Amino acid sequence: MVGIFSLVTGWPGPSGFGSSSTAEQVTQGIDGTNLTAIITGGASGIGLETSRVLALRGVHVIIGVRNVKAANEAKKTILTEIETARVDVLELDLCSIRSIRAFADNFIALNLHLNILINNAGIMFCPFQLSQDGIEVQFATNHIGHFLLTELLLDKMKNTVKTTGIQGRIVNLSSIAHTHCYKNGIRFDHINAKDGYNDKRAYGQSKLANILHANELSRRLQEEGVNVTVNSVHPGLIMTPLFRHSAVLMRGGDDLLRGPPPTAEGSHREILCRLQ
Ligand SMILES: NC(=O)c1ccc[n+]([C@@H]2O[C@H](COP(=O)([O-])OP(=O)(O)OC[C@H]3O[C@@H](n4cnc5c(N)ncnc54)[C@H](OP(=O)(O)O)[C@@H]3O)[C@@H](O)[C@H]2O)c1
Repeated sequence: MVGIFSLVTGWPGPSGFGSSSTAEQVTQGIDGTNLTAIITGGASGIGLETSRVLALRGVHVIIGVRNVKAANEAKKTILTEIETARVDVLELDLCSIRSIRAFADNFIALNLHLNILINNAGIMFCPFQLSQDGIEVQFATNHIGHFLLTELLLDKMKNTVKTTGIQGRIVNLSSIAHTHCYKNGIRFDHINAKDGYNDKRAYGQSKLANILHANELSRRLQEEGVNVTVNSVHPGLIMTPLFRHSAVLMRGGDDLLRGPPPTAEGSHREILCRLQ
């Protein structure tokens, strides 16, 4: 865990890495050729860079996305750089319970191992909206969708550990914004209420849920003696299309980075590299 001082200065933590370390530096020398990873939202921002670097280390990467066209473009970009990359795209809309179930079925039908699940996709500061299942959209996408996905893939992960003897990893992309929640934490009785909705606090609430999910799942798996770790991370502040609903942050980040603001069509890798 990197404190706020280290986060801003990039000062390395006990691992020797800090907020200014790149994914390539952190994974230097790791051979991932016998690993398979699912990355949700792996065609944009942090997810795209994660997909690229895992593929660079030989990991078979499955990108779960709602925008299959964008993901195929991302796959093409990765393959241009890394000819041997193993990257597949599967449709996944985390805002739809039906889509999540279909994704899990489709993945299981591929008959692959599953060593790593990175619950990365997310939306931030959206105006009030309900998902097609009637759940507030930030809570649905950031938490409920990943919670269900993890549940549906857990047996696959446990079987992979049994068969391969390799430790499984689940990572939830949370945020320091989990501290900026509603007054009494998660509004369990009003998750889907428009009344009192605050776009920032709703994001914080969903990110708090990501952490609680990771903590409790980790506790249960340890109790069960299953060799799968579950962690949540705050990835730092990185200008990506995540900020599309916040003109102020977009402008602030733009000044900070001295470059054009990111768009969904922009070069996400370039955006990430500006901070590295
Ligand atoms: N960037 C930061 O500074 C920062 C800080 C703290 C935490 N985080 C967390 O890091 C994670 C990645 O964020 P990012 O900055 O890389 O954002 P990003 O570039 O906007 O990427 C988010 C990804 O999530 C996907 N997504 C959104 N809704 C989805 C849905 N219903 N179903 C499937 N995929 C969906 C997006 O797909 P589309 O392209 O189709 O929209 C996109 O690929 C998020 O969980 C975010 O909360 C980021």
